[in-house]
Amino acid sequence: MAHAIVYSEFGGPEVLTLTEIPDPVPGSGEVAVRVEAAGVNPIEWKVRSGLRPSGPLTAPRRVGADLGGVVTAVGPDVDGFRVGDRVVALGVHGAYATDVVVPVDKAHVLPAGVSAAEAAALGIPIGTAYQALRSLDVGAGDTLLVHGGSGAVGQALIQFAVLWGATVVATSSERRAGRVRALGAIPVAYGDGLTDRVREAAPQGVTAIIDAAGTDEALQASLELLVDKRRIATLVRGRDAAGLGIRAFSGGSPEPLTAQQLAWRAEAVPVALALLAAQAFSVELGPSFPLAEAGRAQDAVFQGADGKVVLVP
Ligand SMILES: NC(=O)c1ccc[n+]([C@@H]2O[C@H](COP(=O)([O-])OP(=O)(O)OC[C@H]3O[C@@H](n4cnc5c(N)ncnc54)[C@H](OP(=O)(O)O)[C@@H]3O)[C@@H](O)[C@H]2O)c1
Repeated sequence: MAHAIVYSEFGGPEVLTLTEIPDPVPGSGEVAVRVEAAGVNPIEWKVRSGLRPSGPLTAPRRVGADLGGVVTAVGPDVDGFRVGDRVVALGVHGAYATDVVVPVDKAHVLPAGVSAAEAAALGIPIGTAYQALRSLDVGAGDTLLVHGGSGAVGQALIQFAVLWGATVVATSSERRAGRVRALGAIPVAYGDGLTDRVREAAPQGVTAIIDAAGTDEALQASLELLVDKRRIATLVRGRDAAGLGIRAFSGGSPEPLTAQQLAWRAEAVPVALALLAAQAFSVELGPSFPLAEAGRAQDAVFQGADGKVVLVP
């Protein structure tokens, strides 16, 4: 019997419960996947807690979007997937589960050497980072400031931007500066004096800023460091972006992503897979939890765990 995590009321981690679900049967254009690892993203605790408004809970709601696993059944009209294929899937409805059905346009066969946990770490963080960089047209000649460079999104932002020729300055706690430096960015500690430290790290000035931290300090420093507000984007404070005159890509923004932005988010995963296979990209894995402990896993993300938290059904 298959199982999934659901919740029926907004609240703390305890509202997440493990429930039996019917064995998923793939329809046309779909595959069934046995989940080996599901990525835990901040948006999932934000929606569960009610911090991020979402529709009313009229029925038990499934959780999770990103996973790595193995194809167990192939629906009609499917090419390119076979039972036993190891896959990554993104934008899944309810990835916190033992088994799911995935439309094949949201799945990719994993190259050798990429683990299920690494696959589960890709979808939302990688897609968001890649799209934000594309939207700001970051590349050679740019000096990019990343707020939250030690997080899952921040690490992807650093790596893509460095690969595309930008100089990157990235904020983190002092404890996490080594990771930021190892990815090719100049680490800068967040906290009092941030603006001065960024100016010292990048005397040439920053030409683009992406906020994956969402603090008042990050937004304030961004406005002080860069006059061109069209090249400042927040991924967290979407509701405040218009008032500040900066850009937002989701993160609570009332403006939906454009078709182009959604296409970039989807394109990111195969790009990252190729880079991972070539050992030119790195995913930092954090603690893993059994599926039944999804609440603890989300709490670990809330508390700021180092590396990507995954559920292992
Ligand atoms: N707009 C979108 O579509 C979208 C998509 C994905 C994520 N997000 C949002 O982006 C944010 C980052 O996501 P993530 O998955 O990368 O989370 P994460 O892995 O938990 O990373 C959180 C980051 O925030 C940093 N941070 C913590 N406290 C801070 C402070 N006081 N000042 C500055 N930075 C601080 C952390 O640095 P240390 O660990 O070094 O303290 C870390 O770099 C979340 O708010 C998430 O909801 C938005």
